[in-house]
Amino acid sequence: MKLISRYTMVLLAFVVLLTTVAPVALATGTTGNSGSKKLVLGTSADFAPYEFHKVIDGKDQIVGFDISIAKEIAADLGAELVIEDMGFDGLLPALQSGRVDMVISGMTPTDERKQSIDFSDTYYKSKQVIMIRNADKDKYPTMADLENEKIGVQKGSIQETIGQGIPGAKLTALDKISDIVLQLQTNRVNAAIVEDTVAAGYLDDVIGLAPAIPDEEQAEAAIGIRKGNTELLNAVNGTLERLKSENKIDQLVTEASQLMADKVKKDQNIFQVFWEYKSFYATGVGYTLLLSALGVIFGVIIGLIICLFRLHDVSILRWIGTAYVEVIRGTPMLVQLMIIYYGLALTFGITFSPLQAGIITLSINSGAYLAEIFRAGIKGVDRGQLEAARSLGMGRGAAMRFIVLPQAFKAVLPAIGNEFVTIIKESSIISVIGMVDIMYQASVVKNITYQGMSPFLIAAAIYFVLTFILSKLLGRLERKLSASDRR
Ligand code: ARG
Repeated sequence: MKLISRYTMVLLAFVVLLTTVAPVALATGTTGNSGSKKLVLGTSADFAPYEFHKVIDGKDQIVGFDISIAKEIAADLGAELVIEDMGFDGLLPALQSGRVDMVISGMTPTDERKQSIDFSDTYYKSKQVIMIRNADKDKYPTMADLENEKIGVQKGSIQETIGQGIPGAKLTALDKISDIVLQLQTNRVNAAIVEDTVAAGYLDDVIGLAPAIPDEEQAEAAIGIRKGNTELLNAVNGTLERLKSENKIDQLVTEASQLMADKVKKDQNIFQVFWEYKSFYATGVGYTLLLSALGVIFGVIIGLIICLFRLHDVSILRWIGTAYVEVIRGTPMLVQLMIIYYGLALTFGITFSPLQAGIITLSINSGAYLAEIFRAGIKGVDRGQLEAARSLGMGRGAAMRFIVLPQAFKAVLPAIGNEFVTIIKESSIISVIGMVDIMYQASVVKNITYQGMSPFLIAAAIYFVLTFILSKLLGRLERKLSASDRR
C-alpha cells in the first residue's frame, strides 16, 4: 500500500513539474494572443542582412530586411507576424504543407521552384560571388578555377545547383551559411559560393572574398506563396509595390546592413559566452525538460500498453506488440521524426508543431524500449509469487496489481531511470526541426559567435548536469523502495 502511495507521489511530482513548465512553453510558443489573425512566415535566418539572429537587449531576435518586409506585409493585412526559423531546404515543404503561409528568405524564383509554389514580384537583386580564405587571397578564383575544388554551398539553394555544374567539384551542402563559413575557416572546403550581399557580412581578417561570376548571373529574391493562395499573393505584391514606390526597400537594406555590421565581440572565453547567452540556454533547458517529461509520461503509457499486448493470451495482440517493438527499435529516431513531422504533413495534411512532433516521436520511441523493460520486469518475478497469491484467493488482476507489479517495478527501476536519462539526451535530435531546445540554442549561439567549441561545451555541461541530477534522484528513490527489503 505504501508503495502505491509512493507511485502517486512520483506521478504528482511530474504533474507539478508539467504544470509549471507548460505555461512557459505555451507563452513563448507559436500560439500568440488569441483572436487576432496570424501570418506565419517561414525563413532560414542565417542570411544576413536578409534574415539573421541578433541579440538585442539581451534577447535573441530574428532581424533583417526580409523580416522588415514581412512586418510591412503583416501590418497591411492587419495580422500578427509569427516567424518560423528552419533550414533553407525545409522551406518549400513547409509552405506546401501549410505549416507556414509565406516564405521570405532571399529566395530566387527559379522555374523549378515555380512548379511547386508561386512567387511574388521580385524585390531585390544580388550577384553570385566566391568566398575564400584570406591566405588564398591572391588566387582570386573565377568559376573556372573551381574545377575539382572542394566547395561549400547551402543545401537546396541555387548555389548548390551552380556548384553541381562545375566539373569535378566536390560539394559540401550544408543547412546554414554559418556552417559553410566554419567549414571554410577550418580548411574543410576551399571556397564557398554565396551572394555578394551576404558575403559582405563575412569580410574580415579571416576570410577574403573574390567576385567571380559575371554580372548577368544574378540572384533575384521574391516571396514564396502557396499555389492557389491568390489573395495573399495579391496582398504581398501590393505591399511590395508600395514599398518600392516609397523607396523603402533600399532603406530597409541599409538598416539591416548596419545591424549586421556591428559584429559580435571576438575571442570571448567560454564563461563570457555562457554569461552573454544565458537566456538562450535557459529557454533551451525549459523546452528540453518539457519535451523529455512529456515524452516519458506518454512513453510509459505506450510502454505499458505494448507490454500488456506482448504478454496477452490473444496471439494477434501479441503479434502487434512484438511488431511495434521491433519496428520502432529497428529504425533511427531521426527517420521517425522526419516521417511524423514532414511525412504526415505532406501526405495526409496532418500538421504538427515542432513541439508536438517532438513529443510524439519521443513517446513512440521510448514506448518501445519501456515496453521491453516492463516485460522483463514482470517476467523476472518468480512464478511462485503469482501462484501463492492466487492460492490465497486473489483474482488474477489483484495478484498482478498487488503482488507482481510492485516487485517488477522495483526490479526495473534502474532500467527505467536509464531510459529517462536517454530521453533527455536523445531529445536533442528534435532540434533539427527547429525545436528550441538546448541543442538548438547551442547552434544559434554558434551561428552568432562563430565559435565552434564553447557553445557546444556549454550545452554538454547543461545536459550533464540535468542527467546527473536525474540519476541521483532516481538512485534515491531506488534506495527508498528497497528499504523494505532490508528487514
Ligand atoms: N537566393 C538563393 C536561393 O534562392 C539563396 C537563398 C538562401 N536564403 C537563406 N535564407 N539562406 O537559392
